[in-house]
Amino acid sequence: MTTPRLLKTPQEVRWFERDLRRRGQTLALVPTMGFLHEGHLSLMREGRARCDVVAATIFVNPTQFGPREDLSRYPRDLAGDLAKCGAASAAVVYAPEPATVYPDGYQTYVSVEQASLGLCGDRRPGHFRGVATVVAKLLALFRPDVALFGEKDYQQLKVIEALARDLELGVEVVGRPTVREADGLAMSSRNAYLSPDERERARALSKGLFAMAAAAAAGQADVAALVALGTSPLAEANVRLDYLEVRDAATLSPLTALTPGRPARALVAGFLGTTRLIDNLALQVP
Ligand code: PAJ
Repeated sequence: MTTPRLLKTPQEVRWFERDLRRRGQTLALVPTMGFLHEGHLSLMREGRARCDVVAATIFVNPTQFGPREDLSRYPRDLAGDLAKCGAASAAVVYAPEPATVYPDGYQTYVSVEQASLGLCGDRRPGHFRGVATVVAKLLALFRPDVALFGEKDYQQLKVIEALARDLELGVEVVGRPTVREADGLAMSSRNAYLSPDERERARALSKGLFAMAAAAAAGQADVAALVALGTSPLAEANVRLDYLEVRDAATLSPLTALTPGRPARALVAGFLGTTRLIDNLALQVP
């Protein structure tokens, strides 16, 4: 394992990208906000399986946080992250300063319209505009062949797919399965906020989703009944529900019933104390 090269400015990225192309190599990009866990690392390993070189980015993007959200307390560990990126065979890590990404006079934003409606788009106004803006900037800078994102942030994945398609960025956006802890909890940098008691109760999010998926697989097509099933572990564990919805897996349009052959997705967000966690799972009736 070698320590990845740390890049701090767009100019350094351009030089790196030019060298790579001169050598005829392909590039996979894995954007992150750092405090890396196995979910992030699985994306880097998949990138390495698909391309010659993997670049990761670590940037806690201020434009995707609301005024009352956790920007200032978001966990950070650049030294630890660099070692993990090296072990997951990322060759370079781009970790710019906020003033490098958004210098004085910055005024250009990217809005993906339909995919940003509802779910987290409603609960976190401006969030997906911030995500789309920073991801568009990173894709334009690195010009990767492939960019990898987790299904853990399912609506975000749909936003980025639309962004790459609509702006004709020429990148293949790859979505990868959610990596979970042994008890089912989706890995997240925000899990670090949880007290031992909250960590225990957080299990209810995935427990509800798995109950919904099992019921759908056994033929339950009624969305209201599925949502009731998914909600009950949350109520038992005293998790404050933000939303639990069933949507079309491709278009994210709301559904009232599942249809055979048409993939659906259950998406949940809930609060453990002040920590907001999200998760989602595929639903399919036979
Ligand atoms: P972050 O939350 O750090 O996640 C970076 C990438 O890792 C995203 O594609 C996310 O979906 C993926 N990921 C997170 N947890 C995962 C898990 N348990 N299993 C699989 N993949 C997982 O998402 C962001 O950062 C930001 O919004 C970003 C896209 C970097 C833009 O700022």
